[in-house]
Amino acid sequence: MNRRTLIVVSNRGPVSYGRDGNGERVIRRGAGGLATALRGLLAHHEVTWIASAIGDEDRRVAAESGGGVEVEIADGAGCRLVLLAHDRDAYDGFYNVVSNPLLWFVQHALYGLAREPVLDESFAVAWRAYDEVNRAFAAAAVAELDNRPGAAVFFQDYHLYLAPRHARDARPDALLAHFVHIPWPQAEGWTVLPEVERRAVHDGLLANDLVGFHTHRWCRNFAASAGDVLGAEHEAPGRLLHRGRPTALTARPISIDCAEFDALAASAAVVERGEQIRAGRRERLVVRVDRVDPSKNIVRGFIAFGLLLDRHPEWRGRATMLALLDPSRENVQEYRDYRASIEREADAVNARHGAEGYRPIDLRVADDFPLSVAAYVQYDVLFVNAVFDGLNLVAKEGPLVNRCGGVLVLSENAGAHEELGEWALTVSPFDVLGQAEAMHAALSMDAPERERRAAALASEVRAHDLGRWISGLLDDLARVSA
Ligand code: G6P
Repeated sequence: MNRRTLIVVSNRGPVSYGRDGNGERVIRRGAGGLATALRGLLAHHEVTWIASAIGDEDRRVAAESGGGVEVEIADGAGCRLVLLAHDRDAYDGFYNVVSNPLLWFVQHALYGLAREPVLDESFAVAWRAYDEVNRAFAAAAVAELDNRPGAAVFFQDYHLYLAPRHARDARPDALLAHFVHIPWPQAEGWTVLPEVERRAVHDGLLANDLVGFHTHRWCRNFAASAGDVLGAEHEAPGRLLHRGRPTALTARPISIDCAEFDALAASAAVVERGEQIRAGRRERLVVRVDRVDPSKNIVRGFIAFGLLLDRHPEWRGRATMLALLDPSRENVQEYRDYRASIEREADAVNARHGAEGYRPIDLRVADDFPLSVAAYVQYDVLFVNAVFDGLNLVAKEGPLVNRCGGVLVLSENAGAHEELGEWALTVSPFDVLGQAEAMHAALSMDAPERERRAAALASEVRAHDLGRWISGLLDDLARVSA
């Protein structure tokens, strides 16, 4: 593998800083799939990572280190980390108004458009803040390019749609790439944003030489909306032309580090939690693992589990749904409201179907990844019913470590469906009856069929692990730079 010089730009960095009980500075590996996946780059390439200083200790590090600090992240692999301490109000508009909920809700089709969103003056203020933070990211990337001539800049996700245009204006010849980790809706979905902002999003992305998505479906939608919104031309398959410059599109589904996952599944923390689950579980275990996020469709999933017990009473007392949910974006009102509705629906199903010693939905809201992995090992059914999802790593993590011939029930709108749908039971995210019946079919499936599907899923994931995602993207970069 050729060693490359890369400038990775993302809102959340690979590590964050805090203080321990003695007031000493500690460094924690950043949570979330994106940072975990990109950490895979560090072992083989020269990386500068530009990210927001999010907590107070991050801000202190940013103030002390100015132009960046060397960090070791895993097994001798590290990078230079540049933390940007944005104005707090600007960051609030950037993260808590524009990125979430607005862009996230548009791209996952989460708005009930009869009432929401209402884009008033506060939206205009927040959009300026989004641009201000994007300009700061672009300026930092340009400064880093001057230190590392020939480096490729690799922007990540929906937080940074405007940064590439600012960077392009400053450095017309730089090699710029962007990966969008969430779905790209059809052009009509983008009409929720006023024309100026809708054009700015597309124009920003088309300032890159390369734009990547997890699926062909999101690539097609982007090519179509870029045509509708900006009049970008389809120069060739997978190549758009805008303002005289080409942008290549690529579909590269992200994946997981299989070796790391195997080791985790065998770790003491996971084994111990596995024993706890085993001691408390009934005959059949349905598992869901998600962030608390409306795009994950948790409430409809609980409604569907209630319907399963209504329509197939043989599962009452024999099957439980273990829902392991990681709290997320709690400063955003929509997320707090959604969490309350999750709790209400679980209570309603438990009140209707629970009995002495039997709680049909075991809901746990906590950040406990070893518990999730322990649940992956022993699920009979893994339930993923997302409204929309860029990919959904749960659908890969579970089948990789499951040891029970577990069945994957998978939303047709999760990006992972493009790769894994063949061996899953497909559901529509809105059809709760269909989801209940899919759970029944999965719970009733005979052992050879379950084993056949489970083995195929695991070997598909093993054959397309994280290393493939990274090397594929680097090949794409090499092609566009040539
Ligand atoms: C999810 C998405 C990523 C996104 C991340 C941001 O993991 O799949 O595409 O970058 O959320 O999470 P945050 O916790 O930073 O809001």
